[in-house]
Order: sequence, then structure tokens, then C-alpha cells
Amino acid sequence: MRNKDMGIMKNIIVAPSILSADFANLERDIKKIEHAGADWVHVDVMDGRFVPNITIGAPVVKSIRKITKMPFDVHLMIIEPIKYVEDFAKAGSDFITIHAEACENNLEETIDLIKSFRIKAGVSIKPKTSVDVIKKILHKIDLVLIMTVEPGFGGQSFIMDCLPKISEVKKLIEKENLGHIYIEVDGGINAETAKLATSAGANALVAGNYVYNAKDMPKAIEALR
Ligand code: DX5
Ligand code: ZN
Repeated sequence: MRNKDMGIMKNIIVAPSILSADFANLERDIKKIEHAGADWVHVDVMDGRFVPNITIGAPVVKSIRKITKMPFDVHLMIIEPIKYVEDFAKAGSDFITIHAEACENNLEETIDLIKSFRIKAGVSIKPKTSVDVIKKILHKIDLVLIMTVEPGFGGQSFIMDCLPKISEVKKLIEKENLGHIYIEVDGGINAETAKLATSAGANALVAGNYVYNAKDMPKAIEALR
């Protein structure tokens, strides 16, 4: 691991999403979250196919890798992620999270490929996807990402119906003695919804608009914890 401290010592990991940063000033905006006490950098990769929006690719990850030692939590919202795992791994990702819905026939294979680069593997589920799809592969992964908005855009409202899925994942993890797995929540996180998510069992929070639009960024990050 690039960074000795992956944030494990802190109770709740805060991973601001650079989707809400100013892309003309990415370096400045990444340093801003670093100085404000963020744990990881959440990188939202969208292909205009899996989701109706296009963002950034591996070359951008490679460029920003030079400016910070913070772990990169790369969220691939793309079809056929297996084709791009190598690029994102080599660009300097610490976590690569793929969508279960994008890997109906090769979820396990894609996870194995991520792990072959000695980085952490995550699997994400959209709001309407059942937790059941991750049961079989739970023992292989390091992170479960529960989407609390339909993926595609920042700034949407937290879908309350997704809350029970957080507790469901937590129960599964406890039952299988896999306490090292991060339970990450993404979409519509603010001080109030963070409380709901962490009470349900989340220990990593992605936040885009809430962090980047805050007048006092360190305070906003602290409020999430
Ligand atoms: C949505 C992305 C999120 C998003 C979060 O598809 O995966 O990471 O940027 O943004 P907020 O916190 O503004 O909902
Ligand atoms: Zn995301």
C-alpha cells in the first residue's frame, strides 16, 4: 500500500469526490481536501454507457497521482470494467470498485484481476440492486459500496430506502467474520444522512457537494465523522 495509514485508525473514513471539484484546478482542489483532513480521494469514472454521464479516465488518475499520497478510491461506473482494470491499477489506484450490475457474467474474474495488481477491490450496488448479488464474492473483496443515489451525477438527494441495505451488508460481514471490509456509502451524504448511514453500519463516506461547497471544509469533514 502506498500510504501506511489507510485511515484504519480513524472510525469513519471520509472520501470527498473530486466530481464536485473544479477540473481546471484539480491540484488545488485535491490539496484542499487533503489539508482539510480527508482520508481518501474518491474518483468517479463514468463512461456515458453504464451511466448517462462521462467524466474522466486513467490518464487523469495518473496525473493526479503525482500530487498527493492520499489513497485513491476509484469508482468505475463503466460497462465491461475488466477491460480497464489494468489501466486504472497502473495509473495508481489504491482501491478499484466495480459495479456488480456491469459484471453479470464475470464479477469474480474482474475482482481477481484487480487483486492481481495487489490493490484493494470493491464492489458497488445501485439503489435497486439487492445485496444478494455480493454474497458469493464477499470473502474476496475489501470494500462494499452502497449507492444511495442513482449513479451518474453529484448533488442528488440521499434515497432513504437504501438504508436497510447498509445494515444488511453489515450483518453479512459480521456473520462471515469479515470485519476488515469497508462499508462505504455514496450519494447525497451530508451531516444528517452521514449519521443515518454510520448508525446503520457504514464506516466510509463519499461526499461530493457537501464537502466541496462547504464554507469551512475541515468543519464539514469533521461533521461527517
Ligand atoms: C454519483 C457518484 C458520487 C457523487 C457523490 O454517481 O458516484 O460519488 O459524486 O456526490 P454527492 O455527494 O454530491 O451526492
Ligand atoms: Zn462515486
